[in-house]
Amino acid sequence: MKNILIIGATGQIGSELTLKLRRIYGGDRVVAGYIVGCEPKGELLESGPAELADISNAQQLAEIIKKYKIDTIYNLAALLSAVAESKPMLAWRIGVDGLLNVLELAREHKCAVFTPSSIGAFGPSTPADKTPQDTIQRPQTIYGISKVADELLSDYYYKKYGVDTRSVRYPGLISNVTPPGGGTTDYAVDIYYSAVKSGTFECPLKAGTFMDMMYMPDALDAAVNIMEADPAKLKHRNAFNITAMSFDPEILAAEIRKHIPSFSIEYKLETMRQAIADSWPNSLDDSCAREEWGWNPRWNLENMTEDMLKVIEEKHKKGLI
Ligand code: SER
Repeated sequence: MKNILIIGATGQIGSELTLKLRRIYGGDRVVAGYIVGCEPKGELLESGPAELADISNAQQLAEIIKKYKIDTIYNLAALLSAVAESKPMLAWRIGVDGLLNVLELAREHKCAVFTPSSIGAFGPSTPADKTPQDTIQRPQTIYGISKVADELLSDYYYKKYGVDTRSVRYPGLISNVTPPGGGTTDYAVDIYYSAVKSGTFECPLKAGTFMDMMYMPDALDAAVNIMEADPAKLKHRNAFNITAMSFDPEILAAEIRKHIPSFSIEYKLETMRQAIADSWPNSLDDSCAREEWGWNPRWNLENMTEDMLKVIEEKHKKGLI
């Protein structure tokens, strides 16, 4: 039976993953860890316990682990790529020093640990098309450097201490629930909101910028399924390439136009985001995840776009956005 702590439960992934894990394992077994200023509200607050869980405060985390007999930690604390570039020291403190706090506690209290990695863990010298599972990783962003350090530290704690660490390299995540903040792939979320609200979108990346993407329901399934996977079948651990689709802004805009024919896109480049996007892969090879733990995404560009527009249009009609 799992007793789970989610660090970053009110963030982009956490606010949906917490509810999903509560539906699977029971509300009282999944603790929503948050920081001051990001308190849980609504269903997230009402469906189970919530605790202040600052990743930089090992003592605070230790008390939660003891109080709830935690055996599994979902460590979702991070700054996304563009924000991290403006606060590199903070990005490292949260991403790497924070993970070390979690790994030390996991070693002591025998917890399994999931820490997402990212397509950001690759860099300009990585093969950009069908990027292999095991390949060159020389990222040039602090976000990517932190993610590579996280992958290596997680493998180190598994090999040296037997801590059950597992991870996936998420592509850009697209959701209609909690907006992302400061990522390079976020244009692919913003574009849907702009399409519904104004029928036009100012794109910070240029046409032809391909990146891997995924609809949030698939990302949540990945987080659950990798932690449930038979360890005997895992040849890799930290971290598995996973993807669901790869597109550029033009392809995405054309898909939206199938539903909103008058939709228009204009390009207003942001130099930093473009440089980050150019240094990331165009498309990942996720065959190891498929073979080792049955990764199989359900959402593609067509059904995701239909669903995104339906949900966002409903929110817009109700005056929620
Ligand atoms: N979505 C993230 C970002 O753009 C990548 O993992 O920063």
